[in-house]
Amino acid sequence: MDKHIALDIKNAIAPAAVEALVPEAVDALAHVLNADAPGNDFLGWVDLPSRTDAALLSEINAAAQAMRERCDVVVSIGIGGSYLGAKAVIEALNDSFAAYGHCPKGPVMLFAGQNIGEDYLYEMQDYLKDKRFGIIVISKSGTTTEPAIAFRLLKEQLEKQVGRAEAAKSIVAITDAKRGALRKLADEEGYKTFVIEDSVGGRFSVLTPVGLLPIAVAGYDIDALVKGAQDMQKSLAAPGPDNIAIAYAAARNALYRSGKKIEILVNYNPKLHYFAEWWKQLYGESEGKDHKGIFPAAVDNTTDLHSMGQWIQDGERTIFETVISVENPARELAIPSDEANLDGLNYIAGKRIDYVNKLAETGTRLAHIAGGVPNLRITITALQEAYLGQLIYFFELACGISGYMLGVNPFNQPGVEDYKRNMFALLAKPGYEKETEEIRKRL
Ligand code: PA5
Repeated sequence: MDKHIALDIKNAIAPAAVEALVPEAVDALAHVLNADAPGNDFLGWVDLPSRTDAALLSEINAAAQAMRERCDVVVSIGIGGSYLGAKAVIEALNDSFAAYGHCPKGPVMLFAGQNIGEDYLYEMQDYLKDKRFGIIVISKSGTTTEPAIAFRLLKEQLEKQVGRAEAAKSIVAITDAKRGALRKLADEEGYKTFVIEDSVGGRFSVLTPVGLLPIAVAGYDIDALVKGAQDMQKSLAAPGPDNIAIAYAAARNALYRSGKKIEILVNYNPKLHYFAEWWKQLYGESEGKDHKGIFPAAVDNTTDLHSMGQWIQDGERTIFETVISVENPARELAIPSDEANLDGLNYIAGKRIDYVNKLAETGTRLAHIAGGVPNLRITITALQEAYLGQLIYFFELACGISGYMLGVNPFNQPGVEDYKRNMFALLAKPGYEKETEEIRKRL
């Protein structure tokens, strides 16, 4: 078994405040594991790692291999939970300059359907002209507007470029087993498909084909990713002093109850930018309900120390931070010596870049603690599939526990529907006539 990720909460809040909430966290864990609380029909992700068998992984790997052979560019279309997990893992593992074709592990991976930007879609279509491209279209409901628009455009383009029959071989759809427009279309056109289980909500779906297929197409080891999640599932199944999901959930709820309403996820490795975006959806959509919930924010340090650093150090004391610290970078690079030393850096000549980065992290942590920003710290050995699998499952389980402690149903998202209803009314979508009439009066 790989070394596990670790959590340090000693700089967050007095141990007694956390200990006081541990029984609640243990109780919440039991509700998640026993599926006996609100939202219990959306708990398919809890034992998903242990249920993911070799047959499914090999089917995903085979579909990925087929796309890798047919395509130089693959566009993964989806939004929210049908986008962020794959994007997070691929960005964490990819070469920083992969988008420019550097150190390719596979086709160039692009994402669409995560916005309604006309320029974005136009420029993507322009880029894809004459390229051998394929599409992974992901929508659990099969009816979400953003991915539906992107898919309509790119499907038409692909069919024009290679013909309908060849296009169908370069399209994979991931959707509900039976329901939705995408299922109907995929069946009619004969696309390869994978199913998103009813019991796994979008933001908990990265370890299903939703995340696993794009990650495998990008050239990464989904078996190791799932194995990491399986290790974490085993490790977090029982309550006890070593259960870091209980400790994290108890600490953040203790902080929330003491007035700390904002949690900032901090990284010191730019490859984790989209991991933080995934985490924001996971916690924001799970906890922000009934006018309650910790607001999930994120910064990329040291970049943001030069922008948000001032606010975090000296602004309103309603925040705490959770730092993800990666112990070992994948590469080695030292600071060169310079005879003239005009920049005065010779005192650290020969030191690794990561040595400076780690001391920036330590210095910032000490400044924040002294300045009244409670600090939680998660260490992860390296940005590798197995550790990312651990981290994903850890955050998912802790989110379920934390949401129940907060007193909300962590597994629904009623608020996400509100904007959709208004948008459909404004667009005069058939079936929304009454809403259209009402909303136009408000303009
Ligand atoms: O968490 C959620 O359920 C949402 O944010 C969805 O992930 C998002 O709306 C995409 O939905 P779908 O996969 O049905 O297109």
